[in-house]
Amino acid sequence: MHTTALTDTAAFQALQQHHAQAAGWHMRDLFAQQPDRFERMSVRAAGLLLDYSKNRVGSDTLSLLMSLARERGVEALRDAMFGGEKINFTEHRAVLHTALRAPAGACTVQVDGQQVGPDVQAVLGHIRDFAGRVRDGQWRGYTGREITDIVNIGIGGSFLGPQMVCTALHDYAHARLKAHFVSNVDGHDLHEVLSRVDPETTLFIVASKTFTTQETMLNAKSARAWFLRHGKEADLARHFVAVSTNATEVAAFGIDTANMFPFWDWVGGRYSVWSAIGLSIALLVGFDNFSAFLAGAHEMDRHFREAPLETNMPVIQALIGIWNRNFYNSESLSIAPYHQWLRYFPAYLQQLDMESNGKRITRDGTPVGVATCPFIWGDVGTNGQHAFFQLLHQGTDVTPIDFIAVLKPTHGIAEHHDVLLANCFAQSEAFMRGKDAGEVRADLQRQGVDDAELNALLPHKTFDGNRPSNTILLPELTPKSLGSLIALYEHKTFVQGAIWGINSFDQWGVELGKVLAKTIHGELKAEANPALHDASTNALIALAKQARQA
Ligand code: F6P
Repeated sequence: MHTTALTDTAAFQALQQHHAQAAGWHMRDLFAQQPDRFERMSVRAAGLLLDYSKNRVGSDTLSLLMSLARERGVEALRDAMFGGEKINFTEHRAVLHTALRAPAGACTVQVDGQQVGPDVQAVLGHIRDFAGRVRDGQWRGYTGREITDIVNIGIGGSFLGPQMVCTALHDYAHARLKAHFVSNVDGHDLHEVLSRVDPETTLFIVASKTFTTQETMLNAKSARAWFLRHGKEADLARHFVAVSTNATEVAAFGIDTANMFPFWDWVGGRYSVWSAIGLSIALLVGFDNFSAFLAGAHEMDRHFREAPLETNMPVIQALIGIWNRNFYNSESLSIAPYHQWLRYFPAYLQQLDMESNGKRITRDGTPVGVATCPFIWGDVGTNGQHAFFQLLHQGTDVTPIDFIAVLKPTHGIAEHHDVLLANCFAQSEAFMRGKDAGEVRADLQRQGVDDAELNALLPHKTFDGNRPSNTILLPELTPKSLGSLIALYEHKTFVQGAIWGINSFDQWGVELGKVLAKTIHGELKAEANPALHDASTNALIALAKQARQA
């Protein structure tokens, strides 16, 4: 708990003063003055490289930001997290997703006097065994055919991680297996997946930490009803398995708890891809690749835990984000993965970052007093370039961007990768440099444009530049590098939450809508029209009821 408000800390105030100067800098000049800026402002960890030189920072900025991290107790909170303390105090829970990826025997952390390492290893053993049996064809459907399709039914953290990772590791997929994801309660989602799979060869994973989530339970019930139009009750066990912390609800749903893969309340939903929630990943890419994915995350954990703040990749990334958010007032952060298989990474980060740090109250119950999590959004490069990059280059808001690029492709199609990387690097250069009026004028004169036209075009063709970005490079997109990349963002999120003084591990904000949806669901089904809400909500309910009756 902090005793001083963030804005009253000496480090924050020093940064405010420093910003008064820094606001006048242009990165073009910083690069011109510092030929070694890349060496000074890039860091390597767990095989990844973070280039943060294209930010509006100098070495003074970084040391002031480091002081802020120290003054806000980032290191102590980090150690408390790794040590199994119940830092998610609003839910009285430890935060130990890092224990899920610690090597066997290396995890000594306890929760309520109980070692967590042996439980983690036991579940991993179950996953290894089950994934092996499905992949090698021993586990078969009710008519004796091999499993060909895996349907993960889950939402939020029980969906976004598995879908993102299965897509990213597409190259490692078993030739016979396809992974599908049903998350939305909109029946079109389930309908579309069911129309593509065969009940005889489909394995459903009902993935829900609580096993009470309305969307998942309804999708699971409907999937079971669909299955029972083909197979029998006794066949369900071969086709439905569960991943949950709630054995009672799993049994009540009718899934044999022998086919349940448990995890624990100290794993937050948005941090659960490393747990049995990753079962679809282990099935698709194999247990060895799933282990490599965990190992990549563990390598980043060790770096985060052991490296001094000044060379600590997640800490640096977090502090750059704080600088942009709290001193330059950037309202959003755009994620631009230059790899087609990382197309779900922005959506994954939306939950990770916004559900963690979309908070306005500090750990001591008072308003934070500064802006917290920016909006996270984005799309793969080069697609985004032809959609929203115009605004990023010349719009009125300055939006920082994380470029994520992979050096080596796995396809052998000539030239594409060079063009892809050229675009990625060119964009970050353009955002940084811009194009000033002198350059635009010289260009137009070279093209023979007359003076009147030139003066009219000049302001439209000028780019201010000085727009910040990070570039993260992965040598290749492998299970290990992907694990490291996700863990990097997890720890970045953690550090920012620690600086803002908020609890990054609860999510009370999603509850109100869930409760109201239950009430309205009842009203939609009822005969009467009690008009219990505001005029807008009452009218919308009435229209939906009319449409049902029509
Ligand atoms: O509503 C938000 C949330 O609780 C997320 O935090 C979680 O990942 C998601 O719902 C799904 O929850 P569950 O895994 O319990 O179904």
